[in-house]
Amino acid sequence: MNDNFAEIYPLDEFAEVCEWLAFKGWSEAEGGNLSLRLEQDQVPDPLKESDTEPVKLPLNVKELAGKYLLITGSGTRSRDIATEPQNDIGLYRISDDGASYQWIFGNDKPTSEMPSHCLVQNEFVKSRPDYKAIIHTHPTKLISLTHVAEFKDPKVLSDCILGLQSEARIQLPEGIGHLPFCVPGSLELGLLSAEEIKHRNVILWNMHGALSVGTSLNHALDQLEVVEKAAEIYWTLRSAGLPTGGMEQEDLLKSMDFFGRVDRYEKAFKDKK
Ligand code: 13P
Ligand code: ZN
Repeated sequence: MNDNFAEIYPLDEFAEVCEWLAFKGWSEAEGGNLSLRLEQDQVPDPLKESDTEPVKLPLNVKELAGKYLLITGSGTRSRDIATEPQNDIGLYRISDDGASYQWIFGNDKPTSEMPSHCLVQNEFVKSRPDYKAIIHTHPTKLISLTHVAEFKDPKVLSDCILGLQSEARIQLPEGIGHLPFCVPGSLELGLLSAEEIKHRNVILWNMHGALSVGTSLNHALDQLEVVEKAAEIYWTLRSAGLPTGGMEQEDLLKSMDFFGRVDRYEKAFKDKK
C-alpha cells in the first residue's frame, strides 16, 4: 500500500461511516456508495498528478475541473471498507476541462453511481461549496416509504414523516425529496438528483434507496439517521394500527421559531410547481 494514500485522513471517516452502514443493515452486499471532495491541500503531493488514461464522463462537470474525489469502488462491501478502506476507495482527479477523470490511486473501478456523485458534487461547488460528502445507501424503512402512493409527493412525505418526532423537521427544515423511479446508475438519476439536491439534504430514490449529503460523511450519516428514526416511528404506528398524524402544526411552528428555521421551513417546496 502507498503510504501517501494511507495518510489521507478522510479514509478513516469512510471506514467509520461504512462500519455503521453495514451494522445498520442499510448497505447490504455491494449496496451503497460514498464520495468525498478533497481540497488540493488534503492530497499529498506525490498523489496530485496521474498519467493514467482519462475516462470520459457522460456529461461535463466543469465546476469540478482540477478537483479530487475519493469514491468507493463498484461492487465493494461496506463491511470490507470498514476494515480496509484503502483497498476499496479510489482517488480520482477531474480533468481541467471537466470532461473526464483520471484514476490516481486505490480502487480503480468507481461506483456505478458515478453520474450521481459527479453531478451532485458539481452542483455543490456551484451553490454550496461547504458540502463535500455524499452517501447513497439502502435503508429498509426509507425504501418502504417509497412504496406508499401518497408519498410520491415529497411535500406530503416530508410533512408526515418529519412531523412524527419533534427534532426531525428542525434538522431538515427543507424536507425530504423523492425522485421517480430511475434505473440505478443512470445519467437520468444523476441529473434528477443534482437538481433536487439544490433544495434538499436527503432524497429518496423510488424503490431503491436514499441519497444524503453533508459537510462531512458523518454529517450526511446524521441526517439519514434522523430520517430513518422518523420512518421507524411511522412504520411502528402503522403496524400498531395507530394514526400517523404526528405533531400539532402549532407545536411544529413553535419549534421552528425557537430554532430560527421558520424561513427555511416555509420556503420548502415553494420551488415545486
Ligand atoms: P456500486 O457497487 O456500483 O456502488 O453499486 C451499488 C449501488 O447501490 C448502486 O445503486
Ligand atoms: Zn443503490
